[in-house]
Amino acid sequence: MRSIEDILGLAPVIPVLIIEDLAQAVPLGRALVAGGLPVLEITLRTPVAMDCIERMAGEIEGAVVGAGTVINPQMRRAAAAVGAQFCVSPGLIEGETAGGQAPLLPGVATATELIAGIAAGFTCFKLFPANVVGGVGALKAFASPFQQARFCPTGGVSAENARDYLALPNVVCVGGSWVAPADVVRAGDWGRITALAAEASGLGR
Ligand code: 3PG
Repeated sequence: MRSIEDILGLAPVIPVLIIEDLAQAVPLGRALVAGGLPVLEITLRTPVAMDCIERMAGEIEGAVVGAGTVINPQMRRAAAAVGAQFCVSPGLIEGETAGGQAPLLPGVATATELIAGIAAGFTCFKLFPANVVGGVGALKAFASPFQQARFCPTGGVSAENARDYLALPNVVCVGGSWVAPADVVRAGDWGRITALAAEASGLGR
């Protein structure tokens, strides 16, 4: 099992995916991996999300498939059971720790939440919603008091501002939905998805 640190280090961008149609899951994932983005976050926001994780984890060579929008321990356990290799939450989940099945990347927005997360043993955090809670300025401010913390800012990150985040020493990678726009996915334009992924994977330092 890979640690969350290792997973976040695999690519500069984690696509945040809201998949409505199970038939699109594998071709979408393959298109992203082909463009150089192997780490895929499938949000648990659609009825087919768990099936998507199972299928993508089993069928896409080179993909590291995780569950997003995990907001309670039951969702984490269920995602791990269908093959999720990591979980992402928009916040801290009471009682959940870093280790165990499907390592967790919890979301934080404030210093108090960071203190609670560090006390629970976490070193990697999703800053969420990044652009709303201070963005680059907040991450620069957190760097000195929270030297052990590493971040994956998500929420409002785009091709336009991703480089600003990735230039920060405490940012490991960013997350975002811009690499898989809903209309492009609906149209099944996998070539376009691969092109967007290739552009995003080139943002790495
Ligand atoms: C989300 O949970 O939807 C993610 O934070 C993605 O945000 P984005 O759509 O602004 O990239």
